[in-house]
Amino acid sequence: MNEKLPPSSVLQAVDVHKHFYQGSTEVPVLNGVDLELEPGERVAIIGRSGSGKSSLLHILAGLDTADRGHVNVVGEDMGGASSEQRAAIRCAHMGFVYQQHHLLPEFSALENVALPQRLNRLEKSVAEASSREILDAVGLGHRLEHLPSALSGGERQRVAVARALAHQPRLVLADEPTGNLDQASAVQLMDLMVSLSEANGTAFLVVTHDVSMLHRFHRVLTLNAGRIEAYSHDD
Ligand SMILES: Nc1ncnc2c1ncn2[C@@H]1O[C@H](COP(=O)(O)OP(=O)(O)OP(=O)(O)O)[C@@H](O)[C@H]1O
Ligand SMILES: [Mg+2]
Repeated sequence: MNEKLPPSSVLQAVDVHKHFYQGSTEVPVLNGVDLELEPGERVAIIGRSGSGKSSLLHILAGLDTADRGHVNVVGEDMGGASSEQRAAIRCAHMGFVYQQHHLLPEFSALENVALPQRLNRLEKSVAEASSREILDAVGLGHRLEHLPSALSGGERQRVAVARALAHQPRLVLADEPTGNLDQASAVQLMDLMVSLSEANGTAFLVVTHDVSMLHRFHRVLTLNAGRIEAYSHDD
């Protein structure tokens, strides 16, 4: 399929299915996920541990593939793309925050954040200038030269968020980006996401367990039994 998205969508997932095998046992995880995000939209996903939130984000980002269904990101059909093409789409249009930060251990905080822009062939001085700015915005202007091993868990998480934002992607997928943070740092990060979505039209899809953050999202969805449902406070 090579359907073009309606111009209002940055992400469209239709009837996404995924299962894994544990030995010979089939473990169904996603069972027909439908999801659409518009520019500037902030959408939260909540759900029990093991409900498939990370698996879904990986598929939406093209880090993994669906068994069935369609994923379209800024007009690009992820299912029809090779893994190299998916990486190029991700690099150009997406920011991804892994549940485990996945920073490159031999690179400093600044180099880690500048990497997506360098891959997009931006000059080093330009990439590092905007990376400094975003690291400053997440409260890490004083940690630019630190290697990940010399950062605290919360600092590493903030570097990972800065890396996902610095190249000004149209869509950010973030897997529990405030999971390791104190309340003040979590609020600072969420405020940054809100201002970027409002100023630049960046869309955010964020997995979170932090119910105190939910009011900052336009929509809250639950992943339950492999499907997306609207969240109700009774959940
Ligand atoms: N590569 C894999 N092989 C086999 N099973 C897997 C694999 N990846 C994930 N699973 C299973 O899929 C289910 C969903 O995992 P996933 O990591 O997506 O959950 P999650 O909702 O992100 O959980 P958490 O809130 O704990 O991060 C789990 O039961 C997990 O064991
Ligand atoms: Mg997870």
